[in-house]
Amino acid sequence: MTTPLIIPLPGNDALADALVHAVAGERGALETRSFPDGETYMRFATDPRDRTVVFIATLDHPDPKVLPLLFAADTARVLGANRVVLVAPYLAYMRQDKRFHSGEAVTSVTFARLISQAFDSLVTVDPHLHRYPALGAIYTIQCEVAHAAPLLAGWIAANVSEPVLIGPDSESEQWVSDVARRAGADYRVLEKQRFGDRNVAITIPDLHDLKGRTPVLVDDIVSSGRTMIEAARKLKAEGFIAPVCVAVHALFATESDAELKALAGRVVSTNTVIHPSNAIDVSAAIAEKLQRLI
Ligand code: R5P
Repeated sequence: MTTPLIIPLPGNDALADALVHAVAGERGALETRSFPDGETYMRFATDPRDRTVVFIATLDHPDPKVLPLLFAADTARVLGANRVVLVAPYLAYMRQDKRFHSGEAVTSVTFARLISQAFDSLVTVDPHLHRYPALGAIYTIQCEVAHAAPLLAGWIAANVSEPVLIGPDSESEQWVSDVARRAGADYRVLEKQRFGDRNVAITIPDLHDLKGRTPVLVDDIVSSGRTMIEAARKLKAEGFIAPVCVAVHALFATESDAELKALAGRVVSTNTVIHPSNAIDVSAAIAEKLQRLI
């Protein structure tokens, strides 16, 4: 068996180094740059022939990243790689999982088809599964999913006194209940109505029995940040101390992190997406799943 070649796409060097160490892989190099007209130049500086090639590419803000990734996967095959694996700690395009209005693209399905055609297998962390029971519902390749829940629970148990976990909406119950059980804490779920990409309303149930506890808002994704911000605002208005906000994937698509920080006791995330709030390292959990594939 040959040593797997681990190749980061730009911005993914730290995780690539951790995985090289954890799975005894070899670090490979890909040269990329943009031509003056914006098209991508790419060259393998390490020969992928007869190797298992593992590309590391987290897929927040995905559109400029995806075409180079597909070029890399296809070129690896053309140059003789025997297996092409994608490690995408954040897997994009999972939330448009339904045609909400006539004529809309169900981008989760199209994106899954593209990735499934380009790669033999995929490792990711807590993909946003709402209407799909598992990645296998739309991905046709082998998928390994690492779970951040044990790590979030460990961080909360070690850093928050008298926590009560709060999910901002019904979709979050799956994460929050699991994290709460592992942290030995109570949990509650709020109600959310979404009126637009950056417009949500949060309704709080009766939480008077939890006064004096530290609220810990837990969600899988912070995107525009409105969900966490509105939930934190409502909790403070109810007389709770500033909540600790914990997310798996810190997209912070707009500059909402400052607004959230002003409301929260602390904002904490895993390093699936590089962000100043990163405090929980998922590289060992990813390495364990990658090891199964290679
Ligand atoms: C719901 O679909 C997700 O679990 C998150 O609650 C959502 O993506 C957060 O989005 P935003 O930060 O834009 O409110």
